[in-house]
Amino acid sequence: MNGAERVRIGIEGLDQMMGGGLIPGSICSIIGTYGTGKTTFALQFIWEGLTRGENVIYISLEEREDRILQYMADKGWDVERYRGGPLTVLKLDPSDFNLAINSIKNELPALVRQMGAKRVVIDPISLFEDLFDRDSDRRREMFRFVDTLRNQHCTIVMTSETDKDNPFASRHNLIEYLADTVILLRYVRPSDLTDVHLALEVVKMRLSAHSREIKPYEIQQTQVLVYTEANVF
Ligand SMILES: Nc1ncnc2c1ncn2[C@@H]1O[C@H](COP(=O)(O)OP(=O)(O)OP(=O)(O)O)[C@@H](O)[C@H]1O
Ligand SMILES: [Mg+2]
Repeated sequence: MNGAERVRIGIEGLDQMMGGGLIPGSICSIIGTYGTGKTTFALQFIWEGLTRGENVIYISLEEREDRILQYMADKGWDVERYRGGPLTVLKLDPSDFNLAINSIKNELPALVRQMGAKRVVIDPISLFEDLFDRDSDRRREMFRFVDTLRNQHCTIVMTSETDKDNPFASRHNLIEYLADTVILLRYVRPSDLTDVHLALEVVKMRLSAHSREIKPYEIQQTQVLVYTEANVF
């Protein structure tokens, strides 16, 4: 499969590391601790779709719709042009268990079909996973949910917060097994402690070759820059 058949995230160096982008119809999880740029990466993915004329859905379990739209506008993106048309941003309240479960499990697949959405973001999926008290329920429901999404012909990015004791794993240690592609974002604190850097890696990518290098990146006002020529360690 060549790069032309991939779904670009819209972050040049990262797409390169994945052989041109995500595989169409696959599920990607972006895992990172607070402030590593999960939302920024997810928005970039959404914007890339919009500029390609695709319909996109952004489900936010954390930030309100107006804040998400403002972030996008702050990047110099003309979101108003797309809003209500190809761009749907929805805030879900994860504190209402039944509502959140119903929205995510039943309404989202229906919305994807109805809109013919090509890209869907859930940011962060961890807050949905948190709703389940028992590991076995969470595992079963997430498995079913991911299975339903796989039939929708859209490419999905789910962001995930890290485990409090392990910056390399998602909080519930589940999404990395369910997702086809896993991108890990993290802080790197060099031994001289003068500066904190951000670094990313493509941890896994089903059915595709990918880079296993750890590359530094920087979040800028209007873009994310991955320094593919540089090394972190
Ligand atoms: N305009 C900007 N210019 C430079 N850096 C920025 C800009 N906007 C955000 N950042 C950086 O990106 C970080 C936040 O990124 P983002 O909200 O995407 O992270 P996140 O992983 O989603 O965090 P959280 O887990 O808290 O939701 C900020 O902490 C800041 O360092
Ligand atoms: Mg975020």
